[in-house]
Amino acid sequence: MTAKQVMFTKQVSLPAIGQGTWYMGEDPGRRREEVSALRAGLDLGLRLIDTAEMYADGAAEEVVGEALTGRRDSAFLVSKVYPWNAGGQKAIAACEASLRRLKTDYLDLYLLHWTGSFSFAETVDSMEALIAQGKIRRWGVSNLDYDDMQALWQVTGGRECATNQVLYHLASRGIEYDLLPWCQQQQMPVMAYSPLAQAGRLRGDLLSHSVVNDIAHAHNVSAAQILLAWVIRLPGVMAIPKAASIAHVEQNAAALEITLSVDELKQLDKAYPAPKGKTALDMA
Ligand SMILES: NC(=O)c1ccc[n+]([C@@H]2O[C@H](COP(=O)([O-])OP(=O)(O)OC[C@H]3O[C@@H](n4cnc5c(N)ncnc54)[C@H](OP(=O)(O)O)[C@@H]3O)[C@@H](O)[C@H]2O)c1
Repeated sequence: MTAKQVMFTKQVSLPAIGQGTWYMGEDPGRRREEVSALRAGLDLGLRLIDTAEMYADGAAEEVVGEALTGRRDSAFLVSKVYPWNAGGQKAIAACEASLRRLKTDYLDLYLLHWTGSFSFAETVDSMEALIAQGKIRRWGVSNLDYDDMQALWQVTGGRECATNQVLYHLASRGIEYDLLPWCQQQQMPVMAYSPLAQAGRLRGDLLSHSVVNDIAHAHNVSAAQILLAWVIRLPGVMAIPKAASIAHVEQNAAALEITLSVDELKQLDKAYPAPKGKTALDMA
């Protein structure tokens, strides 16, 4: 299999497309379909599953827990802690609650969901305590812009951060100006959330854009697959689309095999130019 991989750590290489779970667990009537979609994704090698204590107030983690029954070790499991839980005993309690909902005894990666109540030093201390207790294997951050990362780098232990998960899609390219090159320089993978533009600037018009659709037609794939192939075109960038149907998951996994030509990338750049200056970090 030639599917594009991202070196997540020195030991762990993962397919450049994973599975998101925001809005899963909201509707009990859709639960079976959501579990099946996640399991189908694992069957197709989409090992990274991204969830959070926030999603459906913990119910998304329960969906993931059900999907992982009997196959926990085949997944690279990521969850996130609310900023107001990201320090001291609150962090330990929040992680333990996530583990219970996920029906597992460890997370592969635990992320600070966004910056907030605790200092970076307090959050890093809690993350290190969780690693020492065997509850998480590694930790990272989400929604941190370039300046935040510089501040994190000044904190003792801050450079152990394994990833930054940020909004990134064709119509929201702000991170290409400074954050992404810096992360690449640190050899720190970036996890692109909302890669299909469910959130972020210019939401809604990407899947129907004529240039995206013309390229999709040329590859005999869908517009969504082109958007994913575009996100993962760069080294060290992985995409975590959320898909609640097996048909979508199959498409998303197949996007790992799509390579966009130089000319196609130029057409997409023309439609959605790379940033020429600093813009505020886009968020969901
Ligand atoms: N760290 C953060 O602050 C943060 C913020 C937002 C998201 N995230 C993470 O990133 C994940 C992805 O982002 P997102 O959920 O905002 O949006 P997204 O992945 O950009 O878009 C999800 C939407 O795209 C649809 N979709 C999936 N595959 C498709 C395909 N092949 N063709 C057409 N439509 C397709 C899904 O429909 P169906 O569900 O019907 O398949 C869903 O409506 C989240 O689920 C979450 O895990 C993190």
